[in-house]
Amino acid sequence: MSKITSTKIIENTYKQIINWRRYLHQYPELSFKEHKTAQYISDQLNELENIEVSHPTKTSVMGRLQGKKGSGKTIAIRADIDALPIKEATNLPFASKVDGVMHACGHDGHAAILLGTAKVLSELQDTLIGEFIFLFQHAEEVPPGGAKEMVEAGVLDGVDYVLGLHLWSTVPFGEIQITKGSVSAASDIFDITIEGKSGHASQPDSAIDALAIGSQIISNLQHITSRVMSPLDSGVVSVTRFHSGDAYNVIPDRAHIGGSVRALTNDVREQIKESMEQICTHIAIAHNAKATLTYNYGYDPIVNNEDLTERILENTKKAFKDDERIKVIQSPPMLGGEDFSAFSNVVPGCYVGIGAMKNENGTAIPHHHPQFDISEDSLFIALKYYVTTALDLTGNTLL
Ligand code: NI
Repeated sequence: MSKITSTKIIENTYKQIINWRRYLHQYPELSFKEHKTAQYISDQLNELENIEVSHPTKTSVMGRLQGKKGSGKTIAIRADIDALPIKEATNLPFASKVDGVMHACGHDGHAAILLGTAKVLSELQDTLIGEFIFLFQHAEEVPPGGAKEMVEAGVLDGVDYVLGLHLWSTVPFGEIQITKGSVSAASDIFDITIEGKSGHASQPDSAIDALAIGSQIISNLQHITSRVMSPLDSGVVSVTRFHSGDAYNVIPDRAHIGGSVRALTNDVREQIKESMEQICTHIAIAHNAKATLTYNYGYDPIVNNEDLTERILENTKKAFKDDERIKVIQSPPMLGGEDFSAFSNVVPGCYVGIGAMKNENGTAIPHHHPQFDISEDSLFIALKYYVTTALDLTGNTLL
């Protein structure tokens, strides 16, 4: 095992991380269109000289650093780099210069943290064992997502572990949230079409009322989470659209229902889908109608590897033990969707949350809001988390 003093190097990288984040914040780009962002990132990596830079897809970047002291584990670290179609309203001196596009989820921070991680590790190269892969991923915000494309391009070949994180503007600064098992939900959408037979409102016996059948289906869909699933499992079935009919005196022959499903495991997700199919089919049959369910899979749930997460939890507590601002906590999962799961489905992974609330007294502005902002000090916490975790997992010892 090699012993390293990295604290100083981490501190020296701080200012540069802020500069990177502010530059990226000014020039946000939408999902699958991150051309200039990818160019900027690869320029910064190329300046480090000992990092091999490539483009696995059109707008993603991969950096590879080989420790000089010998072989060890290979670890991949991922940052998403895309922005959102939102008009920024922050008045920050480094606010977006691209009209209608904004880094309103903190991905500018994620990219800067990973550039910083690459810089710190590249300066330590002579003392390192193992290999480090830096994945700057395009298109997290828009399904099917960029992670899947990068995996298909082979970025995880030979990788032992994958790490990811998210800065959270609504989580107090200083919190590091580490979750064992499921950490984000499967996020799927569905459409149901009901076909009946139209007729005069005064003669319901001659019609097959798609609207009334649709109401029964909606009502029964609520039973999935309350009566089909185990009360110990988590899932959501939300009907958010229901359209049928457009006259006062006509029984409609068509109804359209739409909505969203969330589940913390793939098993629960499949159970929900199967139950939806049964409800649609059988309620329709009971009324001589036809119902068709179209179920569209979104991102898979992220499931943090238990052993890896336990190790990271212990190592992170150790790494931050002298920093009174930091609380390492085991937190419950969220029901949001994240395509980091495309990586962690392939190799053991761990995805954590870093508190980045700007205002200590609450009033946190949520993600995807025109006034979204993060505490820049949280970038330093995240950088230290990545460096200390990467060193531990590759078999290096941190001093
Ligand atoms: Ni995000």
